[in-house]
Amino acid sequence: MSRLNPILAASAQSTDAYQQAIKQTSEAVVQWLQQPEMYQGKSVAELRERIQLDFTSQGLGNQAAIERAVEFFLKDSLSVHHPQCVAHLHCPSLVVSQAAEVLINATNQSMDSWDQSPSATIIEMKLIEWLRTKVGYPAGDAGVFTSGGTQSNLMGLMLARDAYFARQGHSVQQDGLPGDLRKIKVLCSENAHFSVQKNMALMGLGYQAVTLVKTDRFARMDINDLAEKVAQAQANGEHILAIVATAGTTDAGAIDPLPAIAELAAKHQIWVHVDAAWGGALLLSDKYRDYLDGIELVDSITLDFHKQFFQTISCGAFLLKDARHYELMRYQAAYLNSEFDEAQGVPNLVSKSLQTTRRFDALKLWMGLEALGQQQYAEIIDHGVTLAQQVAEYVTGQPSLELVMQPQLASVLFRYRPASLAGADDAAIALLNQKIGDALLDSGRANVGVTESDGVTCLKMTLLNPTVTLQDIKVLLALVEKTAEQL
Ligand SMILES: Cc1ncc(COP(=O)(O)O)c(C=O)c1O
Repeated sequence: MSRLNPILAASAQSTDAYQQAIKQTSEAVVQWLQQPEMYQGKSVAELRERIQLDFTSQGLGNQAAIERAVEFFLKDSLSVHHPQCVAHLHCPSLVVSQAAEVLINATNQSMDSWDQSPSATIIEMKLIEWLRTKVGYPAGDAGVFTSGGTQSNLMGLMLARDAYFARQGHSVQQDGLPGDLRKIKVLCSENAHFSVQKNMALMGLGYQAVTLVKTDRFARMDINDLAEKVAQAQANGEHILAIVATAGTTDAGAIDPLPAIAELAAKHQIWVHVDAAWGGALLLSDKYRDYLDGIELVDSITLDFHKQFFQTISCGAFLLKDARHYELMRYQAAYLNSEFDEAQGVPNLVSKSLQTTRRFDALKLWMGLEALGQQQYAEIIDHGVTLAQQVAEYVTGQPSLELVMQPQLASVLFRYRPASLAGADDAAIALLNQKIGDALLDSGRANVGVTESDGVTCLKMTLLNPTVTLQDIKVLLALVEKTAEQL
């Protein structure tokens, strides 16, 4: 270690190196933010050729490694803050989230035991308590921060499964799954996130365990079809572990009818998990909080703060209504949450999480809430939902564009379909719209999503960015039309 001490520590050599590295990096970020292009437009092949690891025997040193990251990563990154970057549920981040990341990274706390994260543990627990009050759950701290929606959904499905069999006197945690595994089912809508399928496969039950419920013309779960599917499953002797409702489907932003689903589930003693990865942002809304009415009735909830809460990736949470269900996944690890410590009331979040080592992502939300306050947070969330309504109205007035579905959250589904293509078949229009999306990204000028809604290939704008205006979107739509004409 004579040449350079690369570890962050108290010595002047280390703190000088730290400050220098952070200064060099933040200056590069500020410069990158000025780039006018949304993306430099390099192809897959170009980037594969250009990006090479330079792992030398002596090392390049921090400064050169940072310069190379700027050249080979930063300059060819997608500008998620750019007004024409609207393809995904991928938000630009709050400035204060960046500051939080500096603290999270420099302190490198790990959330798996009190003795690795004392103040962080308390902050996370208080934030979970607060989130529960926003949802309308009973007071308590049952819940945990997660890497995002996929993991939170897994926790909901896993606990629903274990609670189902616990009611029959069987411990899945101890003894694994009982009986005929092909009879174990969960129900979710056709528009639920694919992580439901992936998680059921991960749990050893396969995609076959997911029964899809039909949706209405606004992509919301059809409650009558749900009732029929539940009745059918029961008639077949199947075990329904859970109904997964979605509050904010990935494309349409549809919110399933939560009160009706909760009522039906209660009649049959079925666990309800709500995937509110996107729509959960409305917990802070002024204008649209009532869209989430009924969320307080369900057993568990997924929230994602790296979507419309504008936090950097990763930042999500899982909330569990009845803390007793956490017993189903409890594990006593002598080195982390010993009986001795627990008897003295030392809090440990490891038993609430699927992860062991875990980042202190809660700090980002904590600092975001403190910095912005209620009013400003509500404004930046409501902006997207209101803007989507305005954009939909504008799209409806454009002869060459077709609105595919009325927006519900901050997304607009539409397609390019001018009168000149009135006679063209759907496959040709689908291909044209796919090509428009690809050409826009290749040009580096815009990133518009390409997806399917009820079998129709369409374009998608996810309008999370609170600095984007209707005028910006008009410019983007003009670009869509121009690109289409050139194809
Ligand atoms: C509705 C919904 N649920 C879950 C997820 C998965 O979340 P994550 O990517 O944070 O794992 C997404 C991702 O977009 C989503 O839209």
